[in-house]
Amino acid sequence: MDMKEKLQELAETAKARIEESEGLDKLNDVRVAYLGKKGELTAILKSMKEVAPEERPKVGQLVNETRARIEALLEESRKKLEETIREEKLKAEVIDVTLPAKKSLIGHRHPNTIALEEVERIFIGMGYEVVEGPEVEYADYNFTKLNIPEDHPARDEQDTFFINDSILLRSQTSPVQARTMEKGKLPIRMIAPGRVFRSDEVDATHSPSFHQIEGLVIDKNITFADLKGTLEEFAKELFGPETKTKFRPHHFPFTEPSAEVDVSCFKCGGAGCRFCKGSGWIEILGCGTVHPNVLRMCGIDPEEYTGFAFGVGLERIALLKYEIDDMRLLYENDIRFLKQF
Ligand code: DAH
Repeated sequence: MDMKEKLQELAETAKARIEESEGLDKLNDVRVAYLGKKGELTAILKSMKEVAPEERPKVGQLVNETRARIEALLEESRKKLEETIREEKLKAEVIDVTLPAKKSLIGHRHPNTIALEEVERIFIGMGYEVVEGPEVEYADYNFTKLNIPEDHPARDEQDTFFINDSILLRSQTSPVQARTMEKGKLPIRMIAPGRVFRSDEVDATHSPSFHQIEGLVIDKNITFADLKGTLEEFAKELFGPETKTKFRPHHFPFTEPSAEVDVSCFKCGGAGCRFCKGSGWIEILGCGTVHPNVLRMCGIDPEEYTGFAFGVGLERIALLKYEIDDMRLLYENDIRFLKQF
């Protein structure tokens, strides 16, 4: 058999073996058997020395052609096999678009958040800015600059979580008043919502961590009348246009005069019911005109500027608005409860 026939036969058997290869592994075996280092074609190439020198270029060309042919067949077969594998995979992964979709559960806003956004909306509408202060605060801001003297019972460790002598978890949002005044940008018209902390046992109306919204206005010629008008408007927006307000004299160290504000019970309209414990009134916040000592300590001249401040309990608003009778419900994260708002 001459070299030409030999190569032709080799190409034929290679073709047959390639065609019957059923997987990429098998195909690779064929490649190795013919084109590999110890493969049949390679062996022929090695036996070239037995070929007469004048024949060598021709035979060499034949070997190369055979090699190219086998490579082309291998490549073609590989593509076909890969295509089949891909089709089978697609068939196996068919998606039935007629199946009902899985609904992803989107959460929604917590009653506290809804109440806060409502309060923010009202005050932003009156031209207030929303600012924030730190939850870990200096005693200086939480007490001293708010005219709360060293021996005041509010400083007692029973009420306040102290971190050390001078740093604590703020027990009220009022320190944001001092921080804002100290910045020196006047006039001021701001609310400051945020988390506050007190060493209280958990019960239906207490929690060691709750939220307040502080309010502060500083400008020339601000009087108690501005405070009354503002908070009356706030109460009407929040609880409805029929709402009446009552300012009861009270004491806070940082305001003088100070008051607590009650709103007429929006459940019974003031006649007295279970909701307002028969009084017809519900307490909602503390307020007053800013004490001159506070203004002075925060770098503002009380002869030139005056102002008013207030502090609202956010949970209290949420509980009232949504008629929730136990504050603990707000923190338990029971989805059956939260879903109702
Ligand atoms: N910080 C007071 C508290 O936690 C609430 C308060 C009362 C804030 C009167 C004020 C205010 O700004 O003027 O009980």
